[in-house]
Amino acid sequence: MYGGGYIFEEPNRVQQREEQLHDDPEKLAAFEMRIAKGEKIEPGDWMPAEYRRQLIRLIEQHAHSEIIGALPEGTWITRAPGFKRKLALIAKVQDEIGHGQLLYNAAETLGKSREAMINDLLSGKSKYSNVFNYPAETWADVTVIGFLIDAAAIVNQVANAKGSYGPYCRALDRICYEESFHLKQGHDAFIELATGTPGQKAMLQDALNRWWQPIMHFFGPPDKVSGHSEKLMQWKVKMASNDDMRNQFLEAYVPKIRELGLTLPDPLLNKNEETGRWEYSDPDWDLFFEVIKGNGPCNKERLDVRKWAEEHGRWIRKALMKEEAFGKKAMPVA
Ligand code: COA
Repeated sequence: MYGGGYIFEEPNRVQQREEQLHDDPEKLAAFEMRIAKGEKIEPGDWMPAEYRRQLIRLIEQHAHSEIIGALPEGTWITRAPGFKRKLALIAKVQDEIGHGQLLYNAAETLGKSREAMINDLLSGKSKYSNVFNYPAETWADVTVIGFLIDAAAIVNQVANAKGSYGPYCRALDRICYEESFHLKQGHDAFIELATGTPGQKAMLQDALNRWWQPIMHFFGPPDKVSGHSEKLMQWKVKMASNDDMRNQFLEAYVPKIRELGLTLPDPLLNKNEETGRWEYSDPDWDLFFEVIKGNGPCNKERLDVRKWAEEHGRWIRKALMKEEAFGKKAMPVA
């Protein structure tokens, strides 16, 4: 256990008991009617136990991805080329941690404590995004992350911000504003390398080649394999399927990459003008499942850093929880 002594409220204990007792067809129908009408579901509202469970799983995984996702870029703060790139990267990494904070708060409204979420991350029980288990070997890797992984995240988040669970949607709205800025700085750095010296362009091409498959994996397994999509789309938690989001990403970003004279490491990548869909080689899904099971190149390193931070930050959380720190009610802390 990595108990850091978090203080949290569990506002939904009563509702959760109610749901288990009364997850009956009438309530379910009324709930689904609200969703069909486009209403937002709020923490105090009745919801099916499975809706709550799925939201916790997804939001928690998203929150973990934000804080783990800060690590590969964070290692480049001291090595960013020049003062402006360094400032932008510091700001971006801080934003990502803030996104984690917003998302943990959103997940807490569903009744899972921050402590339990962190424990599940550190024990390997909870997943986080596949893409953050790869090394950022060169500055070009950071550039590819800043441009294309943030772009992929935006495709997902802009869609899901229109979903059904109020606290998650509001967190995503805020996150999308900041991610748009991240995308701009990533694109700017990407263009700088693509139009720079032959050495810079080659470094970027190499990073693109290595990151392409993880980026294709990012949107999740194909629709025919995805276990959660159907229900989550019906409940408007996911607003588009994995394949549709992948397609939206390819549509928006492949032309931007190719117009800079870069290539993508997939000979089959091509838009079928008749169907309007992109065709591509199937990425290695066995590899994807290995990575999200904990066997990617950097999974151990990433979790070790978080464990270190958890252990070394415990004293400050304890200090902040003392009554003297904030009066009668101690503050919940990250
Ligand atoms: N990285 C890690 N795990 C992933 C993944 C990814 N890129 N894509 C899918 N998975 C996992 C799912 O968590 C699920 O595992 P589980 O059944 O053990 O929980 C499994 O692969 C099957 O995938 P699927 O049924 O398609 O899962 P899903 O409905 O959760 O869809 C996402 C996957 C990524 C589209 C969805 O989780 C999502 O939109 N998450 C929020 C956004 C986010 O986390 N972004 C990453 C950080 S920016």
